[in-house]
Amino acid sequence: MKGLVLSGGKGTRLYPITYTSAKQLVPVANKPVLFRVIEAIRDAGIDDIGIVVGDTADEIKEAVGTGRRWGVKITYIRQEQPLGLAHAVKVSQHYLGNDKFVMFLGDNVIEGGISGLIRQFENSNYNCQIVLTPVENPSQYGVAELDPDTRQIIRLVEKPRNPPSNLALVGIYMFDEHIWEAVQAIKPSWRGELEITDAIQYLVDQGYQVYPYIHRGWWIDTGAPGDLLEANDLVLDEIEPRIEGYVDRDSQVNGKVTVEKGAEIINSRIRGPAIIGEDSRIVNSYVGPFTSIYHHVLIENSEIEHSIVLEHSKILDIPYRIEDSLIGRRAVITRSPIKPKALKMTLGDHSQVGIL
Ligand code: G1P
Repeated sequence: MKGLVLSGGKGTRLYPITYTSAKQLVPVANKPVLFRVIEAIRDAGIDDIGIVVGDTADEIKEAVGTGRRWGVKITYIRQEQPLGLAHAVKVSQHYLGNDKFVMFLGDNVIEGGISGLIRQFENSNYNCQIVLTPVENPSQYGVAELDPDTRQIIRLVEKPRNPPSNLALVGIYMFDEHIWEAVQAIKPSWRGELEITDAIQYLVDQGYQVYPYIHRGWWIDTGAPGDLLEANDLVLDEIEPRIEGYVDRDSQVNGKVTVEKGAEIINSRIRGPAIIGEDSRIVNSYVGPFTSIYHHVLIENSEIEHSIVLEHSKILDIPYRIEDSLIGRRAVITRSPIKPKALKMTLGDHSQVGIL
């Protein structure tokens, strides 16, 4: 079996973070979401992985490389325009050939990996298997209607106004070669995209074997800042803590805290679950639960909780606690000694600041 990871798209809901960085490379608990996806596929025993890339191709290639680091072989597939998930599958035909494959959206994070799922599909005669999970807001996703008696799929609809159920399509799909017929047959949707949901509906309509797998753990599509913070909470709670950096005697580290190599905690308190990235410095500060501080960050005389801070940023001398925040690369938040006493900001387009 092969893996196909979709890693195109503009990530507009994550502006301004994604003006300068692909959404799949935003770290959750200090590891880019895309790396977590590659590891989930590798852990399921698949070492031949194609990554579909678009405008952010260079950045993705630079970050992921050949795949040797994970013991897998990565092939990059160019999608010239973001014309939908089924279109991404179409442009990957020469790579996939007639092999069975798992397609995994590069911004999805799922609890417990996909090994069980892959094993079930590999040993079956299914033509397609989809992953469903109950959600509170089904209109934001593809939604499945199942037969109440047989629990088989009757219908799939993309982002329905009146959802027929609360079962959303998780961004993980398994196909065999019959998908080629389906992606040829479908037409673009109202949003101008070739929808994978329509391709699967075609398989159902033609009488192919399409089966649902109900996922019971958590699953996050990290499309918006709130989703990223939520994924960060869930993953931080799962990872095994390790102290590889330096914690001085005046500091207190409680709960599940990871301090990566080269990081320094000086006269500070870190309350887990939290992670402090390589070569970051936390000085006279408090880092509270559910916070991920990425690499080369400096936090001095400040307090932060339930947040993600990206690389090379600085938070200095802030008299209020920072919470629920997603802070981009090389951002500087500091006190200004220059009068008048006022809020002074240089913010990128689409930035959001909440002031009480
Ligand atoms: C896509 C699919 C949708 C699925 C979702 C999962 O939506 O079209 O069916 O539920 O991924 O993340 P999109 O992210 O393109 O809005």
